[in-house]
Amino acid sequence: MYRIFIVPLERMNEKKNILVTGGAGYIGSHTVVELVNQGFLPIIVDDFRNANPVVLSGLRNIIGFEPIVERIDCCDRNALRDVFQRHSIDGIIHFAANKAVGESVANPLKYYHNNISGLVNVCETAIEFGIDDLVFSSSCTVYGEPIGIKEVTEEMASPMGQSPYGYTKIIGEQLLKDTQLAFPQLRVINLRYFNPVGAHPSAEIGEFPIGRPNNLLPFMTQTAVGKWEKLTVFGGDYPTHDGTCVRDYIHVVDLAKAHVAALDFLANSQGSVFEAINIGTGKGTSVLEMIQTFEAISGENLNWEMGERRPGDVIEIYANADKAKHMLGWSAHFTIVDAVKDAWNWELKLKQV
Ligand code: WQD
Repeated sequence: MYRIFIVPLERMNEKKNILVTGGAGYIGSHTVVELVNQGFLPIIVDDFRNANPVVLSGLRNIIGFEPIVERIDCCDRNALRDVFQRHSIDGIIHFAANKAVGESVANPLKYYHNNISGLVNVCETAIEFGIDDLVFSSSCTVYGEPIGIKEVTEEMASPMGQSPYGYTKIIGEQLLKDTQLAFPQLRVINLRYFNPVGAHPSAEIGEFPIGRPNNLLPFMTQTAVGKWEKLTVFGGDYPTHDGTCVRDYIHVVDLAKAHVAALDFLANSQGSVFEAINIGTGKGTSVLEMIQTFEAISGENLNWEMGERRPGDVIEIYANADKAKHMLGWSAHFTIVDAVKDAWNWELKLKQV
């Protein structure tokens, strides 16, 4: 079956066609925008199991042309090979994975199948087609519960995952390390995300949580628009400055830009590369501070209560982001206020729909 994609002429001669698996998802879609901004041509591969097709019209409004989309499951090796055969690909960003910690405990095989088999297929196909540059969507969950440490450096990864989801990231990084050793032409960067938050400032794209959000900020904004009766703060008796858990919340646009910086690093590298790099602001923010920031920005009086701790929650963790700065020339520019403002604007946009 042949399909015709209409792409602006000036982009046809770009030798920087990037396959973005999971490119219709939250982080993937924002990364598609930043790739286009930097002269890349993204090819989205997504089966839309965790993505809303509405994102494509938002992307079109931002980038100015219809994004190239291949609706396939990365676990379907033949379908993936067909995509590689039909497109000239220069590099890969692999986002496609399930990412809900709680769901992974209830349904581990779904996570091991999708997250590991999908990565195996992408690696095998990349090797078959001679594509060397790969950026992998990893996570700060590889640090588990860093006992007595708040700021984590890349060397502090733990082999002990906190959940099946966390293990798929630990296994994913190990799988890539072993594969890169066997195929030294591969150049791999694992980006370890902290807590992605916010939305594109245009409010054309953002997060589409499916069902009840697990994460703090989308649950907060949805509560404020009346989707939920109240927010429960999971624990107020932790050994932190205000008793609530501390996280490194990073604006999704800053996170997206980090992927472009990683691709640029790989494109300018000679020989083998295998690196894990923290992508965070380097600052911690507590749950109560997020609530206070939201109320100050939105003018809303958020309905919340203090509740019991959530099992598996890490007490306090934030990135040491020095390696990203020194190796990629990347650091976060947006603030928590920017992220909360953009998340709120996005929620209000969704409410209009
Ligand atoms: C943050 C804080 C909660 C909801 C997530 C992903 C994980 C990884 C990092 C990608 C915690 C508290 C939350 C609520 C609350 N991302 N909270 N009430 O758990 O740090 O991890 O981001 O790899 O996959 O799960 O983020 O937003 O769920 O929680 O009090 O209704 O907010 O207890 O302290 P978390 P989160």
